[in-house]
Amino acid sequence: MKPVFHMQQLRKKHEGKENQALFANVTAEIADPTVIALLGVSGQGKSTLLRILASLEHADEGDIGLHNISQREMDPRLWRMKVCYVAQQSVMLTGSIEHNLKTVSLLHRIPYEDKLVNHLLPRLGLDHLDLSKSALELSGGEKQRISLLRALLLHPEVLLLDEITASLDRSSKQMVEQVLQEWHQQEGTTMIWVTHDIEQAKQISQTVWFMGEGTLLENCSTEAFFEQPATELARNYVQAPSVSYKEDPCPF
Ligand SMILES: Nc1ncnc2c1ncn2[C@@H]1O[C@H](COP(=O)(O)OP(=O)(O)OP(=O)(O)O)[C@@H](O)[C@H]1O
Ligand SMILES: [Mg+2]
Repeated sequence: MKPVFHMQQLRKKHEGKENQALFANVTAEIADPTVIALLGVSGQGKSTLLRILASLEHADEGDIGLHNISQREMDPRLWRMKVCYVAQQSVMLTGSIEHNLKTVSLLHRIPYEDKLVNHLLPRLGLDHLDLSKSALELSGGEKQRISLLRALLLHPEVLLLDEITASLDRSSKQMVEQVLQEWHQQEGTTMIWVTHDIEQAKQISQTVWFMGEGTLLENCSTEAFFEQPATELARNYVQAPSVSYKEDPCPF
């Protein structure tokens, strides 16, 4: 059986430190559609790796493949349609929200699915939006969900999610998690989801990829990772107390 996705010996040079790598020897294979939580402390290169997987940046060495077809052999536009990146800081085009949603379909020459948009907007907590309004006026959290919807309209095979719930309130976050879990079950989409939210990682993923020491240090089931991390670095990561913000009264 061909793997859904693979990355082999990826290496990215460190842009500030000569002869050093931001990461190297990053190798993994995804045999069947799954949801992977990509974890690791800040600055390990998780976002950089996702951008490389999406063909928005390039690795200095190594290979990436979808169903054993190398990224190098596929037209980047087609690749980005199949392996779709949703950034933490979403970029909206000038024009209406609807224009933003439709542009993706136009660009990739696929029909615009009105019905799907109308089905997903309330499920993402966005039914209050007037789609004719300028997309630039959306809040950060609204932009995140519109850019997620924009990506879903492409029906990608692999969805790369970069802290996409980071600026959402708890209820909107749960809505996004629910939509994506159902989407994974219905469409069989593989998801590689970067998050710093341990509870979210436990809930949404079947597999954990843990980045540390400049490589993909652990690749195991989510249960095994949280119950018995194999490396000391991962043990410290799992045991680190999660940040809690004291609700002090505002002094101003
Ligand atoms: N070739 C490179 N490409 C991108 N970033 C690089 C590179 N070399 C070094 N860096 C640095 O390494 C870090 C990688 O950042 P990146 O955003 O990928 O990490 P991250 O794991 O996603 O962090 P966070 O959890 O804070 O989002 C940045 O500090 C960046 O300046
Ligand atoms: Mg990042």
